[in-house]
Amino acid sequence: MALEAETQAIVEQFEFSDDDVNKAVKEFLRQMDEGLSKDGTSLSQIPTYVTSVPNGSEKGRYMAVDLGGTNFRVCSIKLNGDHTFSLTYNKVTIPKELMVAKTAQELFGFLALEIKKFLQEHHGEVFEHHLKRRLTVSSPDGFKDEPIFRMGFTFSFPVKQVGINKGTLIRWTKGFDIPDAVGKDVCALLQEEIDKLHLPVRVAALVNDTVGTLMARSYTSPGKYGSILGAIFGTGTNGAYIEKLSHLKKDLVGEYDNSTGQMVINTEWGSFDNQLNVLPSTKWDNALEEGSINPGFQMYEKRVSGMFLGEILRLTMLDLYNNPNVSFLKDENSSFNDLGSVTVIDRDSGLYKPWGVDTAIMSKAEADQGSELSVFRESLEKELKIYAAALEDAVAIKRIAHAIVRRAARLAAVAIGAIVIQTGKLNDPELLGEKIDIGVDGSLVEHYPGFRDMIKEALKITDGIGEVNAKRIEIGLTQDGSGVGAALIALVAARMEQKDTNADYIGELRSAVQEGASAVDEKAALDEKATSD
Ligand code: BGC
Repeated sequence: MALEAETQAIVEQFEFSDDDVNKAVKEFLRQMDEGLSKDGTSLSQIPTYVTSVPNGSEKGRYMAVDLGGTNFRVCSIKLNGDHTFSLTYNKVTIPKELMVAKTAQELFGFLALEIKKFLQEHHGEVFEHHLKRRLTVSSPDGFKDEPIFRMGFTFSFPVKQVGINKGTLIRWTKGFDIPDAVGKDVCALLQEEIDKLHLPVRVAALVNDTVGTLMARSYTSPGKYGSILGAIFGTGTNGAYIEKLSHLKKDLVGEYDNSTGQMVINTEWGSFDNQLNVLPSTKWDNALEEGSINPGFQMYEKRVSGMFLGEILRLTMLDLYNNPNVSFLKDENSSFNDLGSVTVIDRDSGLYKPWGVDTAIMSKAEADQGSELSVFRESLEKELKIYAAALEDAVAIKRIAHAIVRRAARLAAVAIGAIVIQTGKLNDPELLGEKIDIGVDGSLVEHYPGFRDMIKEALKITDGIGEVNAKRIEIGLTQDGSGVGAALIALVAARMEQKDTNADYIGELRSAVQEGASAVDEKAALDEKATSD
């Protein structure tokens, strides 16, 4: 009974009421506006220099690389021009020591090497051809490396963008910490390392994963009027939306096409309300903050995204465990335990280690609807080395996990709701009764059962949206934004690029790429056939 009461007391602290949601939406709108008018605000509202979204007819082959969390992906993407694409990729885990390397060069050098490996593996002929030319071409100025692959660089950290392929890192997030890179142009850092290896690749576009998601959503499943927002609820969280240029009061230093009257804005909403005007804070949020590497920043992200929710859960579990009035994970006599065993927490359990509880276990708890919670209890054993937890213990963890994620989903609704209101689309007479489309990606929306439903519930009670309009908001899972989306932006960049003087040489290499590319496509088609046969 005591456990149930204590659990309830914890659950209540994660309540984020309808009233709280509405206050937060108002504050989000205010901070959006502030971010559109000046630099240095908590909601950064970064102009991306992307002024239109695709309609699905785009064609071409591009490369994309994606750095944004635990993995680095190198892809080549063929846009087929009919809302479909094919994609080949390699994925590697970023070695932990590189996430906190002393110099930027160490990380970016590693990325360039991975690009080289990918080219050798998937575009070998083109790569060899390029190498041969390097050795044989003689000109008065020596050999000049010519880029034949345009590459979109998905770099999912806050960057002050000053052009479509130029931007300086504002700060690291999600466990990365390489002070040497802060303030530097990340495209130049990568290009430098690519050039050292003489790869025929040019970093043509700098892309945040949310912008990629918005582009990919528009390319693959455009509604009648396209998508308005791309959002990530994964390791980190953020959103990019289409804003009217007339609302953007900050100076724009780079070139862009102003004919559409719009620009995609990367909100960097992970840092919404760093000043805590409206964000909720429990004692566990405060404890997490104390142990974080970027105190005072990403305050919204720390309450919403996958990197942090598991740690909040761990801190609540530890409190329950250490509470002398409660029996939690303490069955030392098999007669108290419904499994007829004793509960054992391994000394090496993630429960005892900061960041030792992976948020994925919260999805498993939610997904287990069985009366014994046996699947979830198996995860506790496998992943947390907590053996023979009693049913009451598992129920308590599941309830708390649900409360933490429900608060996250309602906070997610704050950002989504505010942006829908900001775009004015709900009241646009041309869109009466039409769907308002949003593309989302990330482990929470993908794996946590009901995450999107909880967002919808909160949108229904949001002033300025309401029940009828909430039904018009379509929140669609959109994967591969950082690959396809980056390719689409590389295409935009290519259109903006001026004609190159050395056209013949490039022409020749491009046809080599085409040949290599069709070989890759044919192989992929054959592989696909082989697996489906
Ligand atoms: C970064 C964003 C990114 C988001 C999702 C955040 O930590 O600041 O740039 O879009 O994570 O990956």
